[in-house]
Amino acid sequence: MRWWVRCLGTAVRHAALEQARNRLALVLVLFFIPLWLNLAYWVLPGDPVRFFLRAAGRPVSLDANTVTQLSGALHSLALIVGFMMFLATSRSGGFDHRLVLAGYPRLCLLLARSGVLLVTAALTAGYATAWVCAFYLPERLDVMAGAFMVGALTYGGVGILLAAMLRSELAGMFVVIMVSLIDLTLQNPVANPSADSPLLRWLPAYGAVQGAVSAVGLGAVPWRQLLLGLCWSAGLTAAGVVAFTARTSRRASVRALLGRRVTGPALRMVTLRLLHPVRARVYRQAGVHDAVVVKGYEICRRLVRRSGPVEAAVPQLFPARLRPVLWAVYGYGRHLDDLSDTRRLGRQDRYERVSRFGALLEADLRRGHSEDPLRAAVVHALWTWDLPGDGMAATDRVYRQDAQGTSALATWDDWSAYWHALTFPFGVKRLLNLFTAPGLAFVPTDAEALRAWTDAFNLLDTLRDLREDAAEGFVKLPSAVLDEYGVSAGDLARGQAAGRFADMVHAMTARARQWLEQATTAGAQHPPLAAALRTVVELHLLELDRIDRNPRALLKGPSRADPVRFHCTLARGRFRVARAWRRHARSAPHLPPTVTLPQPAADSPAAPDTRPLLPPVPHAGGARPPRLPAHLRPRHAAIIMDGNGRWAVRRGLPRTAGHDAGQRAVRETVYGALEIGLPCLSLYSLSTENRERPAAEIAAILRLFQDGLDTETEEVWRRDVRLRWSGVPDGLPPDLVRSLRRTEHLTRDRTGLTLNMCVNYGGRDEIAHAARALARQVADGTLSPDAITPRHVAAQLHLPDLPDVDLLIRTSGEQRTSNFLPWQSTYAELVFLDTLWPDVDRTHLWQAVAAYARRDRRFGTTRSTPGTPGEHPFQG
Ligand code: IPE
Ligand code: IPE
Ligand code: MG
Repeated sequence: MRWWVRCLGTAVRHAALEQARNRLALVLVLFFIPLWLNLAYWVLPGDPVRFFLRAAGRPVSLDANTVTQLSGALHSLALIVGFMMFLATSRSGGFDHRLVLAGYPRLCLLLARSGVLLVTAALTAGYATAWVCAFYLPERLDVMAGAFMVGALTYGGVGILLAAMLRSELAGMFVVIMVSLIDLTLQNPVANPSADSPLLRWLPAYGAVQGAVSAVGLGAVPWRQLLLGLCWSAGLTAAGVVAFTARTSRRASVRALLGRRVTGPALRMVTLRLLHPVRARVYRQAGVHDAVVVKGYEICRRLVRRSGPVEAAVPQLFPARLRPVLWAVYGYGRHLDDLSDTRRLGRQDRYERVSRFGALLEADLRRGHSEDPLRAAVVHALWTWDLPGDGMAATDRVYRQDAQGTSALATWDDWSAYWHALTFPFGVKRLLNLFTAPGLAFVPTDAEALRAWTDAFNLLDTLRDLREDAAEGFVKLPSAVLDEYGVSAGDLARGQAAGRFADMVHAMTARARQWLEQATTAGAQHPPLAAALRTVVELHLLELDRIDRNPRALLKGPSRADPVRFHCTLARGRFRVARAWRRHARSAPHLPPTVTLPQPAADSPAAPDTRPLLPPVPHAGGARPPRLPAHLRPRHAAIIMDGNGRWAVRRGLPRTAGHDAGQRAVRETVYGALEIGLPCLSLYSLSTENRERPAAEIAAILRLFQDGLDTETEEVWRRDVRLRWSGVPDGLPPDLVRSLRRTEHLTRDRTGLTLNMCVNYGGRDEIAHAARALARQVADGTLSPDAITPRHVAAQLHLPDLPDVDLLIRTSGEQRTSNFLPWQSTYAELVFLDTLWPDVDRTHLWQAVAAYARRDRRFGTTRSTPGTPGEHPFQG
């Protein structure tokens, strides 16, 4: 509805501007109307003429100059308003085309144009009436204004109709002049002694002329005549509308566009907008404009639809912005399923196809783009929503096994393990990532609901594909179940319901119902998600009912729920979900603002990057890390890299030279961390307070970061290092934010060292941010204030999965923590080094780690636990 109002607003604005820009018409209104009225009144004699007034049913006698003045006023209104509407309608044709192509409802454009016509007619009629009053006061002022307005509306309609039929403005103007001349001259008794001929009743301005004359000397309102005038106006406008609709029809628009040689992807986008404006709007709202990506999403959407009505319905229960990503996540799995199931190919070929797809997608994910539409859509979805790509390898593995022929599943445990491996590492986890994305306020307990639902969903999928899977030699039900009910895979493949087949199906549907019930009761779900899940469960139940009524139908073909009930339930569900979103509008999903997709570099290699990761560069002096048992090593070390400025000043150099020199120390420390086997290293690179420093110094520091991210590819990013960024984008150059995100994305699958760069980071800021997120959940009613624990706060930090800091190091002899990771460092062991940061090398890190290993950590207890890494409050 809001979209509709916005469309109408734009269309009205455009139509009004169009009129306002028509300066000639404005000048004509202002000067032409008074000039005509004056000339008619003063130049013509005041002799009485006979006028047959049908409103009174008798001839009346009027002064010749008065009649001509009224006829002249109507004539000028007819010409001016007809001309205005003609020009406005014909000139805005191109714009209207574009609006229609952009998905604007045509009704909006028509309403806007009609509204503007009404206002124009009212204003000009009022103006002409005011001028008539300068000569004499008519008996019925309102009737005169009404008659003038009807005349203006009638010729406005003529203008619209002509604009829809004629191309040339001159031709249009000429026709308006001729029609109005004939019409009004014939009705003027001064010019035409037979002006009371009954034939004249069929002329367009007849009602307006009768109305205007009645207003001068008749007290009554000539309703019939005015109504007739309105009918003319409505009829002409309607004819104009029909012609306008035909002109802006999809076919005509395509023709118009094809005339401009629209090709390839652009044509695809145009076709989508024309034939499926609603879907085109979904893509627009989701920020998808690339034709290849749109094509990929469309492929995914079709794969989803092909899977079944419930699968197709699920994305519809989410806001438009989320639908493409849901299509992509599901489409990915479905495509792999197809690749592994293609019956025409041999096992080895299927295996290779799945492997090749996985490898290409992996490479595309690193590049951030793909030439293949389906992969482009998956990459787009993951990048846009900042979703990790992990789990794909695990999913590929299961599909590869499928392709090679999986052995039967013996028990329910095998069944769960199989489906879990297939759907959890990528599909379900991506949904979890998505729903916990900023703005969706998904609470961790919802995961239980999602798991229960996926179990039910997988069992339903198994039942639906029973015969097909059996024909492929892999029935995806536990063989224990088949044996219990005396059903054999061979019978299923032949479509025979042998043994206690019906009982088996009933037992399976009962189990699915149980899981569905669990799904609706688990977790304190975010209201819109709860509404969506409830609807999905209802749809599944309808399908289960149908299966229960006729279990044997499963062996004949896909068993679908009753379509009428299905669509009614879906419509009700969509309404419920939309209402829930409206009520929780503050947490409606928005695209992450800082994530923008990279364009493929011109020279980006098409082949996947299969280069092996490099080992850390050895220490220049050949130093080796101390050998420490794993339990004595910190899990997370954090360093306040201080002393750059003093290092430079002591050498008589500008402070920026110190920051420059500090880069080498960063590399050294990263290599040292890799060598000693540190899982996580946080580096304090720029604090939110540092922004108060001179702009030139901050600019130099930011430039260094940007260059570092751009050029350290070989030096650092080809090592087993995963970059993560803590901090806020506000105040950072967008390019730097993009580079940080990009490097985060490129390195997301690395498992050696997680390098948490704290750029534009402030500890209090981070906690305030978490507090805001929790406050929103409380306001949304998804969290009770009394239920808030440190785990809830930790879950809202920049990187909730970051372990607690075990070892906090500060260089340069300063002994304070300067707003660095306050939440995570509550039990950190502190080590202060006198060395200035640019002089630091990896041996300093190792010394600090060795010192840490000797510390006693007690965590408030009386137990002595040397060097034990602390548990992050949110982990477990
Ligand atoms: C730390 O070095 C680096 C950043 C804050 C970016 P400083 O610039 O704080 O160096 P000193 O402490 O002034 O010498
Ligand atoms: C802390 O160093 C911030 C870093 C990025 C290293 P500062 O030099 O800015 O901190 P204070 O001002 O000495 O506390
Ligand atoms: Mg400092």
